[in-house]
Amino acid sequence: MNSIFHRTSIREFLDKEVEEEKIEQILKAAMAAPSARNQQPWEFYVITNKEVLKELAKCSPYAGSLNNAPLGFAACYRHDIMCPNYAHIDLSASVENMLLEIDNLGLGAVWLGIAPVEERMEKVREVLQIPDTLSAFALISCGYPVKVNPQQDRFDKTRIHYVK
Ligand SMILES: Cc1cc2nc3c(=O)[nH]c(=O)nc-3n(C[C@H](O)[C@H](O)[C@H](O)COP(=O)(O)O)c2cc1C
Repeated sequence: MNSIFHRTSIREFLDKEVEEEKIEQILKAAMAAPSARNQQPWEFYVITNKEVLKELAKCSPYAGSLNNAPLGFAACYRHDIMCPNYAHIDLSASVENMLLEIDNLGLGAVWLGIAPVEERMEKVREVLQIPDTLSAFALISCGYPVKVNPQQDRFDKTRIHYVK
């Protein structure tokens, strides 16, 4: 299975825990991502506490999927890095790696946008008590999917400009 062409956003989850080995595999994928000057700015919070997941669901109007997820991740970035302007880009590569590995493991997930919306970033900081040396970038709700839909075909030849 090629997860690039299989992954879709999953927002409904079975009431089933995600195994620790799978969580670690997802984090290995996260940290395998490329980053500017290989600065690896990421830090990850792994949340399985239902009460905390429900508090995180309130951090954005679009984070409701955390209410029924057995697992959430908060992808954060450090401030003491060489290229701070690239932190969000680096984290995007890392979160996409996570989503692909999650799919590869037979799990489902959705990326919940936090950065660059300051209000959401601060709410996540408060819930997780993130230190001032880090910032929250994205939340991910994760678990075993209730249903998997086929991926949309978004290939559009008109978006390609060959220079030969
Ligand atoms: C930067 C970013 C922020 C997103 N934020 C949210 C969000 O807050 N809540 C949500 O349910 N989905 C969110 N999504 C998921 C998108 O809605 C989803 O990727 C898009 O509709 C395409 O669907 P697909 O992931 O199934 O291909 C986000 C995706 C990205 C890349």
